[in-house]
Amino acid sequence: MSQLETPLFDALLKHRNRHPIQFHIPGHKKGQGMDPAFREFVGNNVLSIDLINIAPLDDLHSPKAAIKEAQELAAQAFSADYTFFSVQGTSGAIMAMIMSVVGPGDKILVPRNVHKSTMSAIILSGAIPIFIYPEVDEEYGITHGISAESVEKAIETYPDAKAVLVINPTYFGFAADLKRIVDIAHASNIPVIVDEAHGIHLKFHDELPLSAMEAGADMAATSVHKLGGSLTQSSVLNVREGLVSVSRVQSVLSMLQTTSTSYPLLASLDCARRQLAVHGYDLIDQAIRLAKEARKRINKIPHLKVAGREKLHSSATFDMDQTKLLISVKDLGITGHQAEEWLRQNANIEVELSDLYNILCLVTLGDTKKEINLLINALQRMSQTFDSEACVKETEVNVPDIPALAMTPRDAFYSSTEVIPFKDSAGYICAEFIMVYPPGIPIFIPGEVITEENIKYIQMNIEAGLPVQGPEDASLQTIRVIKERKPIY
Ligand SMILES: Cc1ncc(COP(=O)(O)O)c(C=O)c1O
Repeated sequence: MSQLETPLFDALLKHRNRHPIQFHIPGHKKGQGMDPAFREFVGNNVLSIDLINIAPLDDLHSPKAAIKEAQELAAQAFSADYTFFSVQGTSGAIMAMIMSVVGPGDKILVPRNVHKSTMSAIILSGAIPIFIYPEVDEEYGITHGISAESVEKAIETYPDAKAVLVINPTYFGFAADLKRIVDIAHASNIPVIVDEAHGIHLKFHDELPLSAMEAGADMAATSVHKLGGSLTQSSVLNVREGLVSVSRVQSVLSMLQTTSTSYPLLASLDCARRQLAVHGYDLIDQAIRLAKEARKRINKIPHLKVAGREKLHSSATFDMDQTKLLISVKDLGITGHQAEEWLRQNANIEVELSDLYNILCLVTLGDTKKEINLLINALQRMSQTFDSEACVKETEVNVPDIPALAMTPRDAFYSSTEVIPFKDSAGYICAEFIMVYPPGIPIFIPGEVITEENIKYIQMNIEAGLPVQGPEDASLQTIRVIKERKPIY
């Protein structure tokens, strides 16, 4: 088959054009049984392909026809041996990826700043996380990826680790020397699995960092929906044969995914793959040009700066995706949150994210010069508005030691817990996640022993006005810990 074809989308259209009389779910039956306002808004086309896994349309859980062909074309396009479609986002793909390589008691090397789906998979699998500290960027107050040197050290210390997980590229677009990390791990027969939520486009342009599959990684969970043009929630899990079992991956994915798979989502994956394979280079090239031009112009706006290639200096910051505009607003005397709010109120612009010091704007294959001009115009106005408050501020970012893990996150998750005053919690085992922004690294995860030093660190950050995320009690007067078993007399 050729990359010009879309076997799954075609099968859906062919089926729809036969106008079959449906005696199966979904009960809205091409929209006829649906609330009319929603039906009209969404339109008949989408509703007519909102179908289920009847024989002519194949089955994601055991693909033999159109879905199989669509996945094979995707594997070819993404340079994988196998590609599996996920209708549960990259979160679902990450969970399947992890649970297919580790089980109860197995060690997995992971960056401390992982996405919550990684921690969910660690809890579900019963694996023991061995954390590696990511590189911290003091200038922007963010975390990058992990270095090849730290992976090497971690493998020397834990040669029995069953997998290494790498986030590549990071949300902010920075990529580690993934090829070197893969070589180091493979020398010990340890598979490298990649959270590639922000990297679907990498493979399609030579000015972008290497994709996980190009770097020789064993698996990559990749959001096609984020930057590759498919519908929200649709992702892929790319697999290289050898250190991981493809049939195990398929069965774990099948355990975790819904049996009512959305065909509009699957078809959008099929079509996004075609667009990337056929026109990807040109579309991404345009995004890169637009972002480069935007970076230059924003850097000329007083008190603003955009992270660029000058930040690349280590194996953790080895390359970058220039389509990500990480704009520091701290010298303007406002927080990233205030900048986000200002842009919303005054320019009708919505950014991807904001934190204490920055906003992140994404330039994608959906942008034109017009949107870039609007963004730059708004940033110029914002800079003028706050000009009188501007002052060069030092960013203070430090991170305390990782506490000892007293029980696996899974055991902590299933233990009885109690709520106690935070200030008195030293020595107890934490039952929740606590993160301080920036840089967003968990200070505690479930199962870790609370230390006096870390209590002081968190209190210091709260007093400095930094947001603390994760605990049930947002004010952190109290904390949930593992219940102490008292002797019965
Ligand atoms: C680094 C990282 N990994 C994984 C995910 C999860 O991806 P999805 O939203 O497709 O489930 C995200 C989402 O933002 C992310 O930023």
